[in-house]
Amino acid sequence: MKFKRYTITAALPYANGPKHIGHLAGAYLPADVYVRYLRSKREDVIYVCGSDEHGTAIANQAIKENTTPQSIIDKYHILMKENFDKLGISFDIYHRTSSTLHHQTAQDFFTVLFNNGTLVKETTEQYFDERAQQFLADRYIIGICPNCSHDSAYGDQCEKCGKSLSPTDLINPKSTLTGEKPVLKRTKNWFLPMDKLQPKIEAYIESHKDWKVNVYGQCKSWLNQGLQPRAMTRDINWGVKVPLHDAEGKVLYVWFDAPIGYISATKQWAIDNKKDWEPYWKDKETRLVHFLAKDNIVFHCITFPLMLMQHGEFILPDNVSGNEFMNLEGDKMSTSRKWSIEMHEYNRDFPDKQDALRYCLLSILPETKDSEFTWKDFQARNNNELVAILGNFVNRTLVLTHNYYKGVVPSADTYIKEDLHLLEEIAKFPDRIATSLDQFRFREALSELMNLARLGNKYLADNEPWKLIKTDENRVLTIMNISLQICANLSILMEPFIPFTAKKLADMLNVSGKFWNDATRTDLLTNGHKIREASLLFKKIEDDVIAIQLQKLEVVKKMIEASTPTTIEPAKANIRFDDFAKTDIRVGTILEAERVPKTDKLLKLKIDTGIDQRTVVSGIAAYYKPEDIIGKKVSILVNLAPRNIKGIESQGMILMAENSKGELSFVAPDKDVMNDGSGVR
Ligand code: MF3
Ligand code: ZN
Repeated sequence: MKFKRYTITAALPYANGPKHIGHLAGAYLPADVYVRYLRSKREDVIYVCGSDEHGTAIANQAIKENTTPQSIIDKYHILMKENFDKLGISFDIYHRTSSTLHHQTAQDFFTVLFNNGTLVKETTEQYFDERAQQFLADRYIIGICPNCSHDSAYGDQCEKCGKSLSPTDLINPKSTLTGEKPVLKRTKNWFLPMDKLQPKIEAYIESHKDWKVNVYGQCKSWLNQGLQPRAMTRDINWGVKVPLHDAEGKVLYVWFDAPIGYISATKQWAIDNKKDWEPYWKDKETRLVHFLAKDNIVFHCITFPLMLMQHGEFILPDNVSGNEFMNLEGDKMSTSRKWSIEMHEYNRDFPDKQDALRYCLLSILPETKDSEFTWKDFQARNNNELVAILGNFVNRTLVLTHNYYKGVVPSADTYIKEDLHLLEEIAKFPDRIATSLDQFRFREALSELMNLARLGNKYLADNEPWKLIKTDENRVLTIMNISLQICANLSILMEPFIPFTAKKLADMLNVSGKFWNDATRTDLLTNGHKIREASLLFKKIEDDVIAIQLQKLEVVKKMIEASTPTTIEPAKANIRFDDFAKTDIRVGTILEAERVPKTDKLLKLKIDTGIDQRTVVSGIAAYYKPEDIIGKKVSILVNLAPRNIKGIESQGMILMAENSKGELSFVAPDKDVMNDGSGVR
């Protein structure tokens, strides 16, 4: 289907902290590539986003930073906006949900759903923190997830398994405000009866089997579990006021107002640009597409579409491009644990390498499963792909053009069969890349782009114009003309992915105002056209630069380890004394100790137990050196049936104390006289 215009959104990030490169990869970057591509196709498209400034996430951060929600959102709104901008994320508007326009838009929306009877007023029991005198909605409360047992699921959602929750679903809930155990208290709220509306949303999801499998699959699983009514209002004071006279002190649920933020952002954009906002949200020929990470899928595929349906005037999302998560060096990215690369940190440390990051993230985008960013991979992609393939091809072409022709594009002489074949191939790239982009397969699209550069590189390497120039100048004219045309096409096709480089290349080639379909041509640079001075498109990233980043993470890792709360196992079930009395534990002395060959962990010990001497294999090599433990006293379970460990019969077991980090230490008497077969009772 051909659309008349496109409304593209990326999830409004909470203005409760800086955002990291995982966020970038999850939503903002793929959406940006898609939008830039559509613009290059000369489609009518807007890319809207903004800060999500309500909800308990903001209020919590204010408590943490000992300040007001307002100062939190002001600080992080600016930080996010600036850094998106530096990374070339080309929003048409980056709005904010604290604006008056948004408050009005969200209230009007609520009023429509209230007036048409969609929202149901109900009094229910909700958790209340008596010390804070505050109802505990959403992120004011944490507990164990009933779905996956994650120990700090929020009252609205488990960030581990993605399940949307209510505070009353949590096991062992506690207040994030005071740490108190909450009590239940009656209060009234307005509910969206998602249970009753389930058939409607089911029909909608079923009509979108074309969605990415991870998105469609998640939706199906929620529907299978059965939707529950969900409150659209909250008893807290930070947010959009509920526009009803009997709702004093209540605000809209943040997941009610935030997606409406896409609409209010569009309205503000329309005001700023003297446009009409309505077609972008109400015309059936508009394609609405949401980009987001997997923890937001349910809200964009189920809750928001239901709200839009019940309102009645709006189009529904035609596609929801939900991505999985990106990990960092083997662990989940997290701002609060500081295990992340924040956008502003990257921009500070790599002020002129925005495209390198875009390129790397796009190559490993978590499209269908979680992926992993490592600094070594980042370096390798920059050095071995951007520098060695794309940069090298362009540089050789431009430098030779300056050397041989003083920067003037030569006219091709005669095309040989191989040239004609290459020209045909080149012309296919725009469609090939477009096909991938149309299906949100960004990694594939990017690798096709690089294939064009590879083709160019190979053409130069095969034909060696730098040798031919001495023997066959006419042939070189053709080779250089074709290579230059490839550069021009590359500058168009790379723009969605690496826009800063695209601009630089277009400037060097001295071309402008070209669009996607122009890249199907192979004569963009006319004979006699003069190119500008050449400079390198990319620079190598050296080992020491990467080492600094890895060192930083090392420090963070130490901090995380030091502050990881120890998980203490609860006591085991009671046993009778008879059960305990069956164990025969003696104090023994280590007579000999040696490593068990070909293992890291095991020592072979000879122990004098007072009743005999025995061989015991023990997994303590990481904690004790053989030479240090000769003569030491240990406790040994002597009536454990012998076991064969690595070909050695182990006749008993040494008792060890183990701390939360898994470190081991002997359990032994503190008087040195016990060496005569003494028992432990
Ligand atoms: N602020 C939410 C988050 O960071 C996303 C909101 S998306 C919107 O998870 F649709 F509500 F805008
Ligand atoms: Zn969970």
